[in-house]
Amino acid sequence: MEVNEIQQRALAEIEASKNLQQLDDLRVQYLGKKGEITAQLKTLGSMEPEQRKSFGQAVNATRDRINRAITARRETLEAAALEEKLLSERVDITLPGRGEQRGGLHPVTRVMERAIGIFNKLGFEVATGPEVEDDHYNFEALNFPPHHPARAMHDTFYFGDGRLLRTHTSPVQVRVMERSDPPYRIIAPGKVYRSDSDQTHTPMFHQIEGLLVGEGVSMADLKGVLHTFVNAFFERSLAMRFRPSYFPFTEPSAEVDIGWDKGDGSEPGWLEILGCGMVHPNVLRACDVDPEKYTGYAFGMGIERLAMLRYGVTDLRQFFENDLEFLRQFH
Ligand code: PHE
Repeated sequence: MEVNEIQQRALAEIEASKNLQQLDDLRVQYLGKKGEITAQLKTLGSMEPEQRKSFGQAVNATRDRINRAITARRETLEAAALEEKLLSERVDITLPGRGEQRGGLHPVTRVMERAIGIFNKLGFEVATGPEVEDDHYNFEALNFPPHHPARAMHDTFYFGDGRLLRTHTSPVQVRVMERSDPPYRIIAPGKVYRSDSDQTHTPMFHQIEGLLVGEGVSMADLKGVLHTFVNAFFERSLAMRFRPSYFPFTEPSAEVDIGWDKGDGSEPGWLEILGCGMVHPNVLRACDVDPEKYTGYAFGMGIERLAMLRYGVTDLRQFFENDLEFLRQFH
């Protein structure tokens, strides 16, 4: 009788168990070493053989019954747990994707590539040189004698061991002429450095240098190439003028202005965009090029300056602040 009672209670509790832990507690409570069913089996020893047989069968049947109920309940609970886990980890494949962020070239890079492309079409090839230079390439071979006041215009970063950060791309002229024979027709785009910082100056900026040396090259050739470049770059026909100037490495030297219409109704004015001139005989001589036989021209311009004009940017520093809002406008 008592066994029946235990069975009924056990089955009801098993059915009502809410999780695997509760179910296991019940298993221990009924079938464990100190469990209620186990306790019943322990009473068998003190019984008469006849009674022992029938009681033993009844207890064993109950134990099996409870065991099966536990197994069945465990399966149900495990299936429910799995179902819950799957639900909680569900991925909604109908949600829209996150989308691709499109990058773009930096405006300075774009202008640089644009300028290189135009000069390539005019027959100029790209040449390069190091950014860490020495006095010879940055000044001496370019006809800046020691203590020449023009050196002071350059706000040079010196390393203190004779090396310096190039202040312009003109040293590439010297490197190109040193390593090969004329004629030369190169452009040298790259970074240059000057200890200077305000709305129109940053300590690092970009220039593109041009050098053309051959027989019978004249200043008219220089003017023709520059005017062609400027019109191609800005995609319109611009007025251009040469203003006399001074660079140690060119003679004569000029600064080039373009007639610039801001497009805001104000009077068009002249804007300086580059420096140029005929390569100084001293520079040719320093590179073992015979100035009696060869003449040439050189020019150098600031890439950021071109970029500011092309894109209407008024503060040069914006190009170097990595502000995505600003940069995205150029994609
Ligand atoms: N190197 C000069 C500068 O940085 C520009 C220049 C280059 C001028 C070539 C004449 C010829 O200002």
